[in-house]
Amino acid sequence: MTEIIKKPFNVREIREEFPALRQEIYGKNLIYFDNGATSQKPQIVLNAINKFYSKENANIHRGVHFMSQKATTEFEEARKKIQHFINARKAEEIIFTKGTTDGINLVASSYGELLTAGDEILITAMEHHSNIVPWQMLCQRKGLILRVAPINFKGELIEEEFDKLLSKKTKLLAITHISNTLGTINPVKELTQKAHAVGAKVLLDGAQSIQHMKIDVKDLDCDFYVFSSHKLFGPTGIGVLYGKEDLLDRMPPYQGGGDMISRVTFEHTSYNELPFKFEAGTPHIAGGICLGTSVGFLNSIDLDGAQKHEGELTKYAEHLLDTFEGLHIIGEAKNKTSVISFTVDGIHPFDIGTLLDKHGIAVRTGHHCTQPLMDFYKIPGTTRASFAFYNTKEEIDLFVEALEKSINMLK
Ligand code: ALA
Repeated sequence: MTEIIKKPFNVREIREEFPALRQEIYGKNLIYFDNGATSQKPQIVLNAINKFYSKENANIHRGVHFMSQKATTEFEEARKKIQHFINARKAEEIIFTKGTTDGINLVASSYGELLTAGDEILITAMEHHSNIVPWQMLCQRKGLILRVAPINFKGELIEEEFDKLLSKKTKLLAITHISNTLGTINPVKELTQKAHAVGAKVLLDGAQSIQHMKIDVKDLDCDFYVFSSHKLFGPTGIGVLYGKEDLLDRMPPYQGGGDMISRVTFEHTSYNELPFKFEAGTPHIAGGICLGTSVGFLNSIDLDGAQKHEGELTKYAEHLLDTFEGLHIIGEAKNKTSVISFTVDGIHPFDIGTLLDKHGIAVRTGHHCTQPLMDFYKIPGTTRASFAFYNTKEEIDLFVEALEKSINMLK
């Protein structure tokens, strides 16, 4: 295979691709540091959305007419692009969902049907609500037991405790690859090996990793990997569940409806093959196609360079914030990226977020859908700056300056 030589990563050039970054908020240049919540979209994705609805809008898998055939081909081509992007063995292993949360709920509902009372699900103390609540609901429904592996104060998983909780009873390890609140990168390949050694399956929550690192599901050997398009520079309302084919084959359908069937009578229904068995109803067609466009865009850039740049941004911001009296960074794992959560003594995160906004700086404040993690740190919430490859050190300088002003005003 010929290796495509890509131009070295250049943040100035990348920024040109994102029109949303070229705007003023309250008369200041926008500084968008809320990429953990959602990322901005490149022009090529915006054009693809416009093109689909202007010229190609038709339902898929159902029509003999030209537009339906074209939309079907594009949707299935997008599936293949995503397959190659995460190095899945087959396109059939790529299930379109509404997003990460939907993917986890699908696995909880469907894989959950294969489990029996007394079986255990293992999660960690740093999970997002979407990787806690579906398992709690499943445990209630089926009499399963939810175990939670603890973390240390730096925000790292305590592996000895994790090892103790893993047993033959564990049927699933569901763990975030990168914590949305702490930025911790979990050693998921090693944890997957440990889980497999006791016969457990592994679901990786990739909501915060897909946009920051090369994902190779074959190499990770996870059984499921879920992510959202909107954090990968694509549209909202669409995401992906990767699952190993043999496992997906054994799982019952998640929802019933059109497209997921092979034959329906009032007495009996037989189901469609993968991936359609899990895709009931008309999907987010434009979303799927445009996620494919986003993946194509990412394939055209030097992602190693982008990842290095993000790592440098995180270190640079941490270094500058170190000098702030009364400021505590929440999440100081040795292996972390792209997220800086912090508290400031005597000041509520919401007030900091509100004042930063007046400087045109978008951050997220609050519990970040990780309330148990906030309980662990005994804090109501944090202010979180989360970076993407289009952010710059100059933006961090302006953020630090605005933060200093805001803190002085609030003290
Ligand atoms: N889960 C997203 C976040 O961390 C919404 O902000």
